[in-house]
Amino acid sequence: MDTRAVGAAEDLIGALASVAREAAEGTYGSAIAQLQRVPDGGTFLPLVQALGLLLGRVEAREMRLENLVTGTIRALVAAEDAKSQWTAGHSFRVAGLAVQVGEKFRLPRRKIRELHYAALLHDIGKIGVPERILENTSPTLVAEDMDKVKHHPVAGQEIVAKIGNDFKAISLAIRHHHERWDGKGYPDGLAGESIPFLSRIIAACDSYDAMRMDRPYQKGLAEPKIRTILEEGCAKAWDPAVVAVLLGTVRRLAE
Ligand SMILES: [Fe+2]
Repeated sequence: MDTRAVGAAEDLIGALASVAREAAEGTYGSAIAQLQRVPDGGTFLPLVQALGLLLGRVEAREMRLENLVTGTIRALVAAEDAKSQWTAGHSFRVAGLAVQVGEKFRLPRRKIRELHYAALLHDIGKIGVPERILENTSPTLVAEDMDKVKHHPVAGQEIVAKIGNDFKAISLAIRHHHERWDGKGYPDGLAGESIPFLSRIIAACDSYDAMRMDRPYQKGLAEPKIRTILEEGCAKAWDPAVVAVLLGTVRRLAE
């Protein structure tokens, strides 16, 4: 092989290595786009074409798997929604909002996926709370019923952890979605930045959506009132940085 051919082969190998690294990160679309830009394959053209075919198939399989996971989670949330007409649709709205907030914080793709799943499943532990409590028409609950409600983040963590190791961070985000910035939340009384960031995002989005919802004992609050509560609750109930981004996001959505 002459020197020019060796140089071309080295360029090609370097480009293919870069494609393989991109694929290893799970960004198949980007890997395929890179592959289409590699230098002329020459003798190695069949290898380049085979790699393109392989990446296309792996990407399709990954998407089928992802759709299966998302579909299973949606089915679980629908089962939870079926228990209470008052909260139906809440988890889907919280998840939509949480993802937008997470994207504003430029969280990596893997974290956004975890945030999406954790927000969808944040109240899945309520599946174990009796319907008579969830459908309660009074704003206050007796202590025993309140304990059952307050157990739902831990119950949710235990349910979701059973899915497998890939859901460990998600189950942890669920466990801590009722912690407060000032440490007065539950179940562990974590405060400030010791609360997982995904939980802090879910907590603020959860409260925002919950305040908008009609309840058996109370009409949903108007947007300006919710804004005031969130602003005043900063540094008490919620992470101030998250609230600032959340309020910016909902303002943009309203425009
Ligand atoms: Fe909750």
